Amino acid sequence: MLNIPLMDNNIMPEDIDAVVEHLRTSDRLTNGPKVMEFEKAWSEWLGVKHSLFVNSGASANYITMAALRDLYGPGEVIVPPITWSSDISSVFAAGLTPVFVDVDMNTLAMNADEVISHLNENTRAVFLTHVLGFNGLSQRLLDELKARNIPLIEDVCESHGASMNGKKCGTFGLASNFSFYYAHHMSTIEGGVICTDDDRFYQQCRLYRSHGMVRELTDEDLKRSYAEKYPDLRPEFLFAVPGYNMRSTELNAVMGLSQLKRLDANNAKRVENWKLFVDHLDPEKYFTDFAMDGAVNYAFVVMLRRPSEEKFRKLTETLRAENVEFRRGTAGGGNMARQPFVRQRMPSFDPSTLKNADVIHFYGLYTGNHPTLEKEKILKLCEVLNRL
Ligand SMILES: Cc1ncc(COP(=O)(O)O)c(C=O)c1O
Repeated sequence: MLNIPLMDNNIMPEDIDAVVEHLRTSDRLTNGPKVMEFEKAWSEWLGVKHSLFVNSGASANYITMAALRDLYGPGEVIVPPITWSSDISSVFAAGLTPVFVDVDMNTLAMNADEVISHLNENTRAVFLTHVLGFNGLSQRLLDELKARNIPLIEDVCESHGASMNGKKCGTFGLASNFSFYYAHHMSTIEGGVICTDDDRFYQQCRLYRSHGMVRELTDEDLKRSYAEKYPDLRPEFLFAVPGYNMRSTELNAVMGLSQLKRLDANNAKRVENWKLFVDHLDPEKYFTDFAMDGAVNYAFVVMLRRPSEEKFRKLTETLRAENVEFRRGTAGGGNMARQPFVRQRMPSFDPSTLKNADVIHFYGLYTGNHPTLEKEKILKLCEVLNRL
């Protein structure tokens, strides 16, 4: 049996040692100096001005959409069907309207022409997901959004280190979201981050992270202006927005600092693994025309070249027999527009109009690509798949 889990060795002894050391030597455990240190290190690694550490990637989505609604007003947000649930539920939660557009097969991200054809005067943002390590952006889309002055929000929760023309995904838009959930490129067990170069957007996100409290702002002028506007309220208990508590802890930040040291080396191994996998997969049987430029995948995407229920059933049975862990439908389980929480809110939208998303939904899956996965196992996995 092949025995390949989705993720392996993602929390190492040195990460645990760092956390234990912090517990032994510090009495500050909630959001404090270590969180700030991790935010600074993450900003440097990514190449952005501000990073805000939160308790999950989903929280990063919720805060980002809430801040977008406050600063840009109500309206539509262009979203992909291949993404995680919180990329859509955060749009609903902020009182914005999701508009689904179909994806490309070679990046699994939204098709640029489809996005552009759905832009109108009510579009408040394009919320693009870089799926499973692929860069989902194109210069054409960036140019069009810039010309129309429409913000791009990047969800990079599955694509830490992916890039376009040598520039990291997560640095192109108004803001970006990352997740540090256990199964991702690096982990703080649970965790996420919002990144932006925009000072006002950053301050708004700070409010949402911590109950909406004005004392969380680092812009002293903004803080003062709230205090002056509401003289009947005590500045230390001034709640400016209907906020959340989505802070993380010093322990998660300590783990993040320790993990970040290994991220680039781990990503280099993942890139090698992915190339080996895709080079050995039979292109007659499986889709292999993926956009490899700048991709850093923590997963191997397995997609039938020709849709067949029978073949897909055989594929999943074989992987189970080999104890290879997999997720059907890729990110988020496939076409998100088919999910009940979407259908209840968009009853007249037909999810089957998203043709490529449906192919991925019914005939695609992913298995794990972790840095310690042996080359022989990758070749053996290809052999097993190619025999089907
Ligand atoms: C694209 C995408 N966005 C958001 C999330 C949510 O991240 P988290 O699990 O940290 O809440 C995920 C989770 O896996 C994801 O894949």
